[in-house]
This record gives sequence, C-alpha cells and structure tokens, in this order.
Amino acid sequence: MNNELDFVKDMFDRIAPKYDFLNRLLSLRQDTVWRTQMVKAATLQNGSRVLDVACGTCDVALEISSQLNEQAHIFGLDFSFGMLKLGKHKLLHKRRKNIALLTADALHLPFQQHLFDAVFIAFGIRNIMNRQRALTAFLTVLKGGGRLAVLELTTPEKGIFRSLYLLYFQKILPIIGSFFSKDLKAYTYLPDSVLNFPSPVDFSKLMQQAGFENVRFKQMTFGIVTLFVGTKP
Ligand SMILES: C[S@@+](CC[C@H](N)C(=O)[O-])C[C@H]1O[C@@H](n2cnc3c(N)ncnc32)[C@H](O)[C@@H]1O
Repeated sequence: MNNELDFVKDMFDRIAPKYDFLNRLLSLRQDTVWRTQMVKAATLQNGSRVLDVACGTCDVALEISSQLNEQAHIFGLDFSFGMLKLGKHKLLHKRRKNIALLTADALHLPFQQHLFDAVFIAFGIRNIMNRQRALTAFLTVLKGGGRLAVLELTTPEKGIFRSLYLLYFQKILPIIGSFFSKDLKAYTYLPDSVLNFPSPVDFSKLMQQAGFENVRFKQMTFGIVTLFVGTKP
C-alpha cells in the first residue's frame, strides 16, 4: 500500500470508536436521512446482490437490509479493520445474517465481473485519489443494467450559505471533531478532502467517462451532500 492509502486507513482505524457518534452529531443526524435517500434511489428488488464499498461501520449495508426486509445478499467491503470491527458488532446486535463483510481495497475488488445488481459508496470516494480507476472497478463488477449510487459531501456553490458552511466546516467542525476523537489531523483532513472533491457536474462527467450512462445527481441539504446515480449499459 502507498503512503496516502496508509494514512487514510490508519486514520479510520483510529477514529472508528467515535465515528458513528460524531457523524450523527456533526451532521445533526442528517447522515441517516441521506443514506436512506441513497438506497431508495437504487430502486432495488428483493433478492438483489449488492456491494457496499467503503462500508465503514455498515450503516449503508444495514439501511439496504432494512429497506428490503433482509431479502438481499449484501457484501460490505472496507480496508479499515477498525471500522469493520464496529460494523460487525452492529450486525451481530441487529442479528443481520444477510450481510457479509470483507477487508479489501476498493481499487482491487475481490469479485468476478457482472456480479452485482447495485454498488454503493457513501462518503468513501473522496478518500480515493484514483477515482477513475475506482469507478471502472465498480463498473466491472456490476451486471448490465446495474446501478452505482455514490453519496458524497460537497461544497455549496455560492451565496451566504457557502460562507457560513465554510466557517462551520473549516473552523468549528475540526474543534468539535478533535475534542471527541482526540484526533485533530483527521478532522482537518475531512474539510480538506471535501474542498478538493470535484463539483457535482465534474464528478458526473467522470462517471460518464468511466462508462456509466443515465448519470444524474441530486444535491441535498443546500448542496452539502450530493447523491449521484448511474447505470451500467
Ligand atoms: C467516511 S467513511 C464512510 C463509511 C460508511 N460508508 C458510511 O456511510 O458511514 C469512509 C470509509 O472509506 C474507507 N476507505 C477509504 N478508502 C478506501 C479504499 N481505498 N478501500 C477500501 N475502503 C476505503 C475507510 O476505511 C472508511 O471506513
């Protein structure tokens, strides 16, 4: 693994115990609403085989399982053992047997081609520098007609809300995040990684270049989060 991947992996291993708590606090519980919308947008059928890339503590996988009344085969993949350990704990607690977890890198998916009806990645793609390669890997494991849903933090484009958001995100959030997680580096990396993420229009183009069709996006909560959906031809 290269230094950049090691940095991200170690960071998530460190903050894992406080990850869910800080997500709910810093987003004022909006993160759960965003994931619900993401799963709905994929319009899954009962019996679907689904991959949740960068699954972290399994919130997306659990949401898929709930929306389909456990009638889905779900694989959660992440390279942070610390995050997966907490995810596993949640699966056991909620007695979800239809979700399998594996430790792997999103750029090297250990699956055959044309396997999944849908691939999800929530708040993970901005941590992956080679996004084109990741999108190509997702396309490869999807069946024809399968859907990719990407949820990512984005930056409001203009106006007073942008200024207020940047103030919160760059100044206040790192203080709250580092106070609870004791990890200032992680919570200064977070705004940096979001500010470096392409605009929704540019990321949609990247999805199209990777081979997805019918690519569309929906900005949520004043544009602080964007949901992208595309289909494999
Ligand atoms: C912000 S968390 C999101 C977790 C979860 N999807 C959610 O909705 O809360 C980002 C996750 O991406 C994982 N991740 C980042 N880069 C990865 C990569 N190249 N391969 C696998 N997992 C990766 C991290 O370990 C972390 O668990």
